[in-house]
Amino acid sequence: MSELEVFAWAKINLSLDILGPMPGGYHRMKMVMQSTGLRDRLRIRLNSTGEFSARSNFGFLPTDSRNDALRAARLFLERIGRPELGVELELEKHIPVGAGLGGGSADAAAVLRGLNELCRAGLGRAELEKLGGELGSDVPFCVAGGTQLAGGRGDELTELPPLPDCGIVICKPGFSIRTPYLFSRVDGRRSRLHPDTAGMVEAIGGGDLAGVARRCHNVFEDVLPRNCGEVRTIKSRLLDLGALGAVMSGTGSAVFGIFEDMDAAGAAAAELGREYRDCFAVPPVPKHL
Ligand code: C5P
Repeated sequence: MSELEVFAWAKINLSLDILGPMPGGYHRMKMVMQSTGLRDRLRIRLNSTGEFSARSNFGFLPTDSRNDALRAARLFLERIGRPELGVELELEKHIPVGAGLGGGSADAAAVLRGLNELCRAGLGRAELEKLGGELGSDVPFCVAGGTQLAGGRGDELTELPPLPDCGIVICKPGFSIRTPYLFSRVDGRRSRLHPDTAGMVEAIGGGDLAGVARRCHNVFEDVLPRNCGEVRTIKSRLLDLGALGAVMSGTGSAVFGIFEDMDAAGAAAAELGREYRDCFAVPPVPKHL
């Protein structure tokens, strides 16, 4: 076997808190992360030429060493001691970029999982997560996904029980937000409100969807620049359309709402989709490793 198709699932942050600065310019996080049914499809082809290349339906995506999925492929083959091998990647992207949905991280994690299988390298979940941590802070979560509590840089993971059945509407305004920019706006500011992470974890454990939705909170919303007002507009729209809770994901700009079931989510997405091209109704996805 020299070719494999894998999926890369977008993440949302059910809650996101920043506890303080960390060495290396990072921030200490506390987040409840969830995989969703919004996914990219990747075709991975191994070759023996040692060459790396990528193609994507998102024409603006870099296909050189700045591409997270390609970086993952190089790192993986280097670490398992197969530098003579190369990889050709075909990325069928559906996860919007610059949205706080971890699209690049999900692609990188999918490449790690895929190459582990293709090369029969036999790396365990913890080893793949560690490799993922070298590629980006959200990559370790994306290795197994599901529902997890993330601490540290985002790479200290504790598995949680799966989120109760529900429907999730993800909607991205026309603009994107750069992650380092929003982190820089947090520095020197004190968030007034923090998410109730312990309550969120308890609600998940008790299968209490309303309790989860009520506790959705993201401290980055406090530092959004003025020209990002549409994030608030989309939140209100989602709540008006029946969401039990709505919040921005990660560093945005995508917003998601939690609905009772997929029917309710589908109806809301159909309505919101008239105004926003990037609008999706998807289920939560359980862990995939
Ligand atoms: O780890 P990753 O490459 O995804 O991070 C991108 C940038 O986001 C970092 O360079 C840093 O500016 C910021 N970041 C942070 N604290 C984190 C994760 C990311 O400050 N826990």
